[in-house]
Amino acid sequence: MRPVVLVTGGAGYIGSHVARALAMHGMEPVTYDNLSEGHRWAVRYGPLERGDLADQARIEAVMRHYRPVAVVHLASLIAAGVSVVQPADYYQNNVAGTLALLQAMRETGVGRLVFSSSAAVYGEPRTTPIDEDHPKLPINPYGGSKLMCERMIEDFANAYGVRAASLRYFNAAGAEPGGEIGEAHRNETHLIPLVLEAAAGLRRHVAIFGTDYATRDGTCLRDYVHVCDIADAHLLALRFLAHQPGAHSFNLGSGSGSTVREVVATAERITGRKVAIQERPRRPGDPTALLADPARARDILGWKPRYPALDDQISTAWNWHGRLPSQVAGN
Ligand code: UFG
Repeated sequence: MRPVVLVTGGAGYIGSHVARALAMHGMEPVTYDNLSEGHRWAVRYGPLERGDLADQARIEAVMRHYRPVAVVHLASLIAAGVSVVQPADYYQNNVAGTLALLQAMRETGVGRLVFSSSAAVYGEPRTTPIDEDHPKLPINPYGGSKLMCERMIEDFANAYGVRAASLRYFNAAGAEPGGEIGEAHRNETHLIPLVLEAAAGLRRHVAIFGTDYATRDGTCLRDYVHVCDIADAHLLALRFLAHQPGAHSFNLGSGSGSTVREVVATAERITGRKVAIQERPRRPGDPTALLADPARARDILGWKPRYPALDDQISTAWNWHGRLPSQVAGN
């Protein structure tokens, strides 16, 4: 019998890559997802249990049935910009949902958790690159919700002995290189997929939100990290927690950054297509530059990204993009 890992949000972009990595390493990923954002077709590596994160009784029933050795918790609303205008949704779904999950883990005796956190917990950086001890002053409700979850998890670790790792993703990018799965948000807000849609002729242009930031070309700088490297880090964190109690946090970034204009230029080179841009005002809730110090994940988890180059991230995303429409149509 393969050890079961419950993956909340396993039908989503990062969750499906985590499920794949678990299956490749001899584990059985059981996806718990309400398919509000995720896709049935993305659940390819183990069973799907449909349900809401807030439905504690349902999560408990699923846990009693499958007896997971651990939970990887990714189910979440993720759009920083949207969270500024719809904060209630973010606190309800992300914070109340995570509390229900933690309670269900307590009730059923599941003691290991890897939590999908975000660079958004840091807010506007005081020092660059950002290490895990950097002050946490989120500038949007999305980041606030992730920080509250981290705090709850720490308290559950201290009081009830849950072992937990919060992985603070910087900007997830790319797709499984074989083209099995990739990024497919229903209402896309992320830069790289929007740029590739424009390259594919599905959009007339891409907006650049803000050209007066204090960066090398005036546009925001982000640390893009390949989704398969993010998935690998979850496996390493699960292994680490097998012999390490307490609550821990790790940055997942490459340590180097690209601006919005650099992303557009790289995508044009890789796709061989022209991408029309439209310069627009700043988007609320966007920090100027986010750059990770990934030393802790490297030194403690032994994490070594396989695809740190933006070229690899964009070319795997482009490879996936070619397969996207029929899959999305099938939902
Ligand atoms: N951008 C544009 N035009 C667009 C979309 C985005 O210029 O059409 C810019 C944004 O302003 C930002 C950059 O491209 O400067 C990246 O934006 P994304 O929306 O792709 O990603 P975010 O940096 O806003 O957010 C991502 C994740 C969050 C996470 C955050 C932390 O979606 O979950 O990274 O770095 F919190």
